[in-house]
Amino acid sequence: MSDSHPTSSGQPAPASKPWEHAKSGQGSGADPLATRFVSSLSYDYRLYRHDIAGSVAHARMLCHIGLITADELGQIEGGLNEILTEIEAAEAQTGSAAGWSGWKEQLEDVHMCIEAALIEKTGDAGRKLHTGRSRNDQVALDLKLWIKDAASQLQVKINTLSYAFLTLAQRDGRMVMPSYTHFQRAQPIIVGAELVAWINAFDRSRDRLALLWTLNRGNPLGSGAIAGTGLPIDRDHTAAALEIGDPTGSSIDATASRDAAIDFVYALSMTAMTLSRWAEQWIIYNSTEFGFIRLDDRYTTGSSMMPQKANPDMLELVRGRCGTVYGHLVALMTICKGLGIGYQRDLQEDKRHVFGAYDTLVDCVDIAVKIVETTQFDEAIIKGSLDRGFLDATSLAECLVTRGVPFRTSHQIVATLVRTCQERGINSLESLKRDDFDHACRQAGADACGDDVYDWLGPGRVVDRYTSFGSAGIKGFEQQLAHWHQRLPKR
Ligand code: ARG
Repeated sequence: MSDSHPTSSGQPAPASKPWEHAKSGQGSGADPLATRFVSSLSYDYRLYRHDIAGSVAHARMLCHIGLITADELGQIEGGLNEILTEIEAAEAQTGSAAGWSGWKEQLEDVHMCIEAALIEKTGDAGRKLHTGRSRNDQVALDLKLWIKDAASQLQVKINTLSYAFLTLAQRDGRMVMPSYTHFQRAQPIIVGAELVAWINAFDRSRDRLALLWTLNRGNPLGSGAIAGTGLPIDRDHTAAALEIGDPTGSSIDATASRDAAIDFVYALSMTAMTLSRWAEQWIIYNSTEFGFIRLDDRYTTGSSMMPQKANPDMLELVRGRCGTVYGHLVALMTICKGLGIGYQRDLQEDKRHVFGAYDTLVDCVDIAVKIVETTQFDEAIIKGSLDRGFLDATSLAECLVTRGVPFRTSHQIVATLVRTCQERGINSLESLKRDDFDHACRQAGADACGDDVYDWLGPGRVVDRYTSFGSAGIKGFEQQLAHWHQRLPKR
């Protein structure tokens, strides 16, 4: 068979892409712009390890069913192993797998480059590898395998971050601080209670990453281009080898679906959102107005004009890059929304967004670990601020409830007492006299307050009193500390 076709001038022109022989002209490799435009190699080369693993499993299956000989399998496996070693060597030498000499843009993608290199090494044995397979099921498989690995690597990183929060909680966690709803002073809590709140949120992030694999397991390999194949391939064989779950039930759905990619980027988006909320909280705590935390100098930057500045830029970028991650999610979902059920080239864009979202998020998690590890809560400043905002008002209302006052009534009594304080220019309920409490109670038709009313006042006493499971005082915190120390693997 000839590698060339007659051109309009009558001259034979080489089809530069070995899978474009049906064309009467030169093919899509003839125009450099078209070549670059259609190629995904600049980003999908990152799939090389999973592509090779999928090819090895496919070749072993082809041998198992007798479509290739043991000798051909040996050549294919040997060739693929050599290619893997070459790519890894390039990565070690240049810092990126993109440095391998076998990547050729005119071959479009990671799949065709690796196959071409294999054919160069093994001839006809390599030419048999693509039997019963298409790039459509190949890329669906590669991406799933990549996502599986990336999700588990990210879970480890999230653990590291949670452990950093836990260590900080262990050290600074028992300081009493205000909590905020609507960013207005709410009730007293301890620092550690807020820190373990982040650990709880990140724990769900980790679970989400684990769950997405449960949802998306299934072996797409063997689905071919869209319709499967008439060859006697054994999809259970590759499924078992790749540890990816049973063969998927529909060749059409398996090659058209990008659910795994979307679930993955959604899981990343949720993690980015939690990181962004944390960054916002700490940006506020780090402000001069709050002064609750001190960020390490390594994680603030100066201003080119204002000499005194130490801005929380890293936290701001964590917050900002959440937008980048969301952008990838929206892009990916939008790419898929107009596609009929079958592979279409639009799907090639998926990897830009999967990799983009992952790289962005990994950087954010890594810097978050550094920031958490080096931040200190400023007890003096926090303590000095506790007498504002009547943080113990709810506790006083609960004190009255223990005397038999209905909560709605006690709420009203305490509101009156807060107003009394404000009218007298006093900023704490503790400064009121016993008579003031009795008077307010009687006015609301309740009995006088007991002597121990002061035991329910003052932020320190209040956080000692919280008893409900999961509450934000000392008892809840100690339970959470023990729980997370047991659950989180040490760094
Ligand atoms: N690079 C392509 C992708 O990522 C591979 C699939 C190409 N399939 C095709 N039928 N042209 O989607």
